[in-house]
Amino acid sequence: MKATQEQLKDKLKQALGEAFGDQYADTDPMLVPASNPKFGDYQANMALSLAKKLGQKPRDIAHLVVDRLDISDMCETPEIAGPGFINLRLTPSYLETQLNSIQTDARLGVPISSHPKREIVDFSSPNIAKEMHVGHLRSTIIGDAIARILEFRGHDVLRLNHVGDWGTQFGMLITYLREVSPSALTTANALEIGDLVNFYKQAKKRFDEDEDFQEKARQEVVRLQAGGKDTVHAWKLLCEQSRLEFQVIYDLLDIQVEERGESFYNPLLSAVVEDLEKAGLLEENQGAKVVFLEGFKNREGEPLPLIVQKSDGGYNYATTDLAALRYRIQEDRAKRLIYVTDAGQANHFAGVFQVANRAGWIPEDVEIVHVPFGLVLGEDGKKLKTRAGDTVRLRDLLDEAVARAHEDLESRLNEVEAREETEEFIANVAKVVGISAVKYADLSQNRTGNYKFSFDKMLALKGNTAPYMLYAYARTQSISRKGNINYEKLGENVKIILKEEAEFTLAKHLLQLDEVITEVEQELLPNRLCEYLYQLSEKFNQFFENCPVLKSEEPMRTSRLALCDLTARTLKLGLSLLGIGVLERM
Ligand code: ARG
Repeated sequence: MKATQEQLKDKLKQALGEAFGDQYADTDPMLVPASNPKFGDYQANMALSLAKKLGQKPRDIAHLVVDRLDISDMCETPEIAGPGFINLRLTPSYLETQLNSIQTDARLGVPISSHPKREIVDFSSPNIAKEMHVGHLRSTIIGDAIARILEFRGHDVLRLNHVGDWGTQFGMLITYLREVSPSALTTANALEIGDLVNFYKQAKKRFDEDEDFQEKARQEVVRLQAGGKDTVHAWKLLCEQSRLEFQVIYDLLDIQVEERGESFYNPLLSAVVEDLEKAGLLEENQGAKVVFLEGFKNREGEPLPLIVQKSDGGYNYATTDLAALRYRIQEDRAKRLIYVTDAGQANHFAGVFQVANRAGWIPEDVEIVHVPFGLVLGEDGKKLKTRAGDTVRLRDLLDEAVARAHEDLESRLNEVEAREETEEFIANVAKVVGISAVKYADLSQNRTGNYKFSFDKMLALKGNTAPYMLYAYARTQSISRKGNINYEKLGENVKIILKEEAEFTLAKHLLQLDEVITEVEQELLPNRLCEYLYQLSEKFNQFFENCPVLKSEEPMRTSRLALCDLTARTLKLGLSLLGIGVLERM
């Protein structure tokens, strides 16, 4: 089934071709959803921009198109409004037919992409032995949602965790490990160093205080690069320890991601520099090898360099990203590379992409995108910190969300509803609500901006929050429980009939899922899907207030039950694409 908007576009193009000649059959009809229901459902705006080219008045152009437009099976007679807008309103029978057909479709009318391709989502990507901070939380949540949406569209998605597992800091860490736990380097056992972040801090303190230690650390880096046996062993132990800590977060958030850290690309780094040299892009700058970037200037107006080999011969973050980019194109054969990081890395990626481009490493059919996001702020509008002024541990943050959801639920059960539930039920609801609230609060913001982290707001039952959406879903399920209805058994011969305004509004919204998903697939803005689901919940609630379901007569009763079911399935699917589960009861 082709999306309504796509079908209308095709028909408009055909009419354009017939009216003005074949060369116009591919003109963009500039079809957009109507801004106000008064204007119908869609508005085609191309007449205005064609006026000059055709030397005709926009209204005349609109008339010529409408006269040739064959859409009586979909729309009422089109109206020409204002200077030359074409307003289109879908007919009830078209809406009913469409609804009846998605009603029996497990994908709810969202087709598999006609061009499935391999795409890489580089997300999460914390650094070994360092805190996985809220920036990594955003990357994890946003990257996972993007990956889920692309997978649902049928793309072959490689989820990559570009973990920071290499660099000079390991010299310091391993030297410190030799001091405090010499046996760890010779035994195969897991480390007993407790909190790795604390370990990092102590190592850093030793490093800053003691020149002798610094020298040892430098030698350790050399040994690591040369593959010295016990040094590599120590490095692996540290990575393993971090991995265990990251996994706790991934389990809580239900995240699948394949680790392919920076170290993976080590053997490919020297070739990057050689090939840049061959391409004639490399220059010497204060002993370092660099590529001067076009269009990037420092404050003094001098061109900015991208350093690919430091004066001591070492490689860096950018070199690794250049190697990774090549590998992903050449070996992974990816056609779209997506990098989900904080906006602070925008220049880094712009530089890397530019160099790769100028070196000729990006074939025409490969698209490379940085997906930036803003900061997480505390309620005071400053960077999120604990009361004591420390960085917030992700684990604590998620635990608190669940704990608060737990409290809220208990007081609602005891004080408001006088309902008895088992502790198991309460714990499960609290976990789903708490984790969903954190994810949804992040995803529902346009990712490019900063957002304020507020437990109170994200856990509120009203507004654009996860609990609101989960409630709407639970309500659909309570309707079926009350009426003793098994939605799955409504059967294939259900006929959805639209009568009331609220039903039309809900129906039209249900039919827009495919448009929203394809938009997110292109723009990589999950907040559009959140907005869609929020509006769906609102429209469903209005329908529910205005249209009796269980108490109405047949055939409306079954038709309305089918609308409830369709809403439920749409919410469930939409939320699952955001990495959020639903509750049958809450
Ligand atoms: N480890 C980096 C950080 O914590 C993020 C890596 C993002 N991915 C990449 N290919 N550079 O900032």
